[in-house]
Amino acid sequence: MNYKETIEANKEWIDAVWEKIDKKMSEITPTALDKIPYTTGKNGKFDNCVEGECPYDIAWWCNGFWPGYMWLLYVGTKRAIYKEAAVNAEKLLDGAFREYDKLHHDVGFMWHISAGVNYRLTGDKDARLRALYAGDFLASRYNPNGGYIRSWNNDSDTDGYQKLIVDSMMNITMLYWMAEEKQDIRYKQMAVNHADTIIRTHIRPDGTAHHIVEVDPKTGEPVKALGGQGYELGSTWTRGQAWAIYGFALSYIHTGDEKYLNVAKRVANAFIACAAVNNWIVPLDFRQPDEPKYYDSTAAACAACGMIEIAKHVSEYDQKNYIGAAIKLLKSLDKKAVDYSTDKDNLLDYGSEAYYPGRGEDGINTAIIYGDYYYTEAIYKLKGFGPLFW
Ligand code: GLY
Repeated sequence: MNYKETIEANKEWIDAVWEKIDKKMSEITPTALDKIPYTTGKNGKFDNCVEGECPYDIAWWCNGFWPGYMWLLYVGTKRAIYKEAAVNAEKLLDGAFREYDKLHHDVGFMWHISAGVNYRLTGDKDARLRALYAGDFLASRYNPNGGYIRSWNNDSDTDGYQKLIVDSMMNITMLYWMAEEKQDIRYKQMAVNHADTIIRTHIRPDGTAHHIVEVDPKTGEPVKALGGQGYELGSTWTRGQAWAIYGFALSYIHTGDEKYLNVAKRVANAFIACAAVNNWIVPLDFRQPDEPKYYDSTAAACAACGMIEIAKHVSEYDQKNYIGAAIKLLKSLDKKAVDYSTDKDNLLDYGSEAYYPGRGEDGINTAIIYGDYYYTEAIYKLKGFGPLFW
């Protein structure tokens, strides 16, 4: 079945899932209007990264996902409450601009799908300014000798080398938007050079990806790979793999360069092979031991988003492989990880921050806001809604 036939065959399920998400969130959202949630406490209620009831603070890299999630629901339902929540959160997020020293390349995650989407949907001038500030901050991290956007700020343990992370492939989409918005090709050149560097430094011959690679800032040459948030050095952290799948698919969409589509397919193929043997239940790392059982629903949801986009751009013959895999991942989440009731605020359980988590078991098999975001974005795509947020 090609893309269109697969959507048709699954229409009843897609419609039902969208309705269940909307039903739940139309009840939960009015209780969370003054929040930017990250996870859900033991009481089943969202925490709040604005006021310190969250393990992290207002500069946390995930604080764009809640407003982005609200915009997805607003586009698909036109319920005013979702827009109100998105706009409130965007204003609260202004506090992060005052935390300049804590900001890094994740300003893309933070502002591209919050203020950036607000501006693209409504033309709001303040939202445009927020997105431009964030976009220029991101561009200021570009290293012309290395050909990459610097990821983090603290590289004090690396002898002057800098850590470059595969997650960055999602942040650079903001630079494609900047190039269009400011009619200035330099932003696109930075994004393209960065994507080319990541292919060279992070994508392994078998289609899996390193999470972190130290690079020489004078040349952009890789110095050594680090284990990062996965199980160990050389293993396959599933969320990193998902960032690469969706990120390279997006670089293809924004540039039309087939090289990026081919990389997206290669990393997707590796993900699909491993997910299939795990019955489409995605672990934290595809090379982790059988015990303890650490899952990552966020990786499954994000990878599905990337596969849906890949499926739209490959030959009719190839479409079934990517759209079929995306539906398998989403149906597995629907069955095993999603709670559509209002007993707790989050949609997805079984997200994990990292294999060796800084927050111990609290960061494992838990609710994480971007799981809800990407699951909803995947269903939004299958419903045929637009625009593309990234
Ligand atoms: N970007 C950090 C993470 O995926 O956990």
